[in-house]
Amino acid sequence: MDTQLTKQPTRQPLTRGDRLWASLMDMAAIGAIAGGGSCRLSLTNEDKLARDLFANWAREAGCGVHVDRYGNMFGIRPGRLSNAPIVLVGSHLDTQPHGGRFDGVLGVLAGLEVIRALNDAGIETDHPIAVVNWTNEEGVRFKPGLTGSKGFVGDLDAASLQGTEGADYFAELERIGYAGDPNLRLNVLCYYELHIEQGPSLEQERARVGVVAGVQGVRWFEIDIAGKDAHAGTTPIVARSDSFMAASALAIALRQSAISLSPDLRFTIGRVEVSPNSTNTVPGRTRLFIDLRHTDPAIMDAFKQTMAHVIERVSAQEHVQASVSQLMDVAPVRFDTEMQARLAACAHALEVLAPTLESGAMHDASSLASVVPTAMLFVQSRDGISHNPREWSEPGHVATACEILAQAVLSHAIGSMPEHT
Ligand code: GLV
Ligand code: MN
Ligand code: MN
Repeated sequence: MDTQLTKQPTRQPLTRGDRLWASLMDMAAIGAIAGGGSCRLSLTNEDKLARDLFANWAREAGCGVHVDRYGNMFGIRPGRLSNAPIVLVGSHLDTQPHGGRFDGVLGVLAGLEVIRALNDAGIETDHPIAVVNWTNEEGVRFKPGLTGSKGFVGDLDAASLQGTEGADYFAELERIGYAGDPNLRLNVLCYYELHIEQGPSLEQERARVGVVAGVQGVRWFEIDIAGKDAHAGTTPIVARSDSFMAASALAIALRQSAISLSPDLRFTIGRVEVSPNSTNTVPGRTRLFIDLRHTDPAIMDAFKQTMAHVIERVSAQEHVQASVSQLMDVAPVRFDTEMQARLAACAHALEVLAPTLESGAMHDASSLASVVPTAMLFVQSRDGISHNPREWSEPGHVATACEILAQAVLSHAIGSMPEHT
């Protein structure tokens, strides 16, 4: 079995890694930020430009482009059999504020490369193949994240969507020209998502790619802390109801609770909103946004209970009122074992080491897994860095991963099993 240290596979690949890489870099130029990354928050002008570019590329590749009510974009390459269910492949083009060039984008553009490669080779498939760009996977501008894929599988309460700074999801879709067909329904056979690992395991194992067995659960909470605005120079410390100091005490106490419950419980406060956000006013309102992850829902339930007690205690100590609400719940997911075997067989056929691993990050594949057989392939991330402009995967590894994806998608779309399964 080959590892990244030995020679590249000699068999002529179907896909073109150089073309995929060029498309990744062209896409990265939209919303480019210092350090080599991109910022394309959902439904902003940058997102519109990225969507337009993707739609043009998909049309050039002979796909019909369809948009659904959540703004999800599907580039569909027809199959030979009328009404055959679609082999769906993709990810997301939106990014974090300090995003990299690969998170999500790789999965969309690798799907496109699969279609381009099939066109080059003149290969027809029985099943249609569609490449999808899911809307607002990252959940930065609108909560919950995974919005488009949750909506697609019927697991979204659209009325509960929360936009930052008053942004309205459906109004923003209209504004950028991606309010789609509310009646669009697709019959999907299975879903593949190629993604960067965003963690260190594959690099440690010296493997270019890995087959993902499952994704840990994710819950998002908002703690809203109400104190009193007061003058910073005249209000004695003991007379204050300081929402930010209460938030700080809460943050430290909750992190300690998380560590005590399980060393694997991932607890993050990635967003804080302080009001009125003025240097010389004691802040009367602070909101903390918590991201919590674990593979075991019981651990997350236990944290939720502890959190309620901690909030009660700290609120009393700090003379504030605090309430908590849950903004997102994504259950832990196990992926389809037959599709994992299919990806492993395609890697094996190319003499590529592809260990099985777990995903620490959330993905649109979690939504899809609730309704259709779903699988994910990871490509090695340098230093495990992601949600950071320094995110990087080697071009050769990206090309290998895309080729494995293409072989798996093709085998599914022609209704055959690859060897070695
Ligand atoms: C998305 O990238 C997430 O894991 O939060
Ligand atoms: Mn992603
Ligand atoms: Mn991400």
